[in-house]
Amino acid sequence: MKVLVTADLHYDITRSREPARAIAREICGLDADVLLVLGDVAGRDVDIVRECLTLFDPFPGRKLFVAGNHDIWTHPGECSLERYERILPAICRETGFHPLDLEPLVIGEVGFVGSMGWYDFGYRPAWLKIPLRFYREKIAPGAAARLARYQHLLAETDDVPEATLSIGARWMDGEHVRLPMSDLDFCHRLLERFKAGLAAVALVCRQIVAAFHHVPFAAFVPPARNPSWAFAGAYLGSEMFGEMVLAEPKVRYAFCGHSHLAGRLKAAHLECINVGCTYVQKRYEQIEL
Ligand SMILES: [Fe+2]
Ligand SMILES: [Fe+2]
Repeated sequence: MKVLVTADLHYDITRSREPARAIAREICGLDADVLLVLGDVAGRDVDIVRECLTLFDPFPGRKLFVAGNHDIWTHPGECSLERYERILPAICRETGFHPLDLEPLVIGEVGFVGSMGWYDFGYRPAWLKIPLRFYREKIAPGAAARLARYQHLLAETDDVPEATLSIGARWMDGEHVRLPMSDLDFCHRLLERFKAGLAAVALVCRQIVAAFHHVPFAAFVPPARNPSWAFAGAYLGSEMFGEMVLAEPKVRYAFCGHSHLAGRLKAAHLECINVGCTYVQKRYEQIEL
């Protein structure tokens, strides 16, 4: 079974559109059995998600989808949970993709289990010494200081290192993701669903491929180039997902995207591969099972 994996097509971004079309054409021309598309296909506009997924209409094999954080960005008044659990799966079914976030899929002897994954702030860099309340609101102290609606974060400044007041970074999920629960609760909700899917396919499959958008291992968090990038590292994923695939010996591969930085690591019984598409350079990974 030949399996192809791509991610981060960002079809809503002008400079990503032609590279996304080109990689889709290439993928459709390969004689593969399974395609995994690992999220961040578009943004707030769901019509572009649909448009992007239809690029793979000519693909001859089974098509599986995992959402990315950008895919659950919404307009005011919309709900990201609704987008994740109802709207995106409906678009998947319309376009011939299996919504792996909702349910695993068994193809032959191989089980495919997926989740967008989320972050629990466990990847936040200790050396920055930024209090957790800033990470929860997805804004660094320097940016918070400039915006009236974040002044409550600076009501007490004893625990805010002076140097961090020059960090002007924001993680834009804070602006566009609208969840009716905390990030930690959302992360656990996805983790529990993933765990149930993994247990279900482990009963009937000889080997398992896990598919994420966020990165399941801290080793994939790039070394920080500057404090703003270091702050952003907190939003790359949660190692709870990595621990879960390490606990299931039938998982042979785990794939992810999101960081836009290709990488691979071997851990125990599995290989974890970050596809690493950027906005302008798209690529895919290929495995044979
Ligand atoms: Fe992305
Ligand atoms: Fe992402």
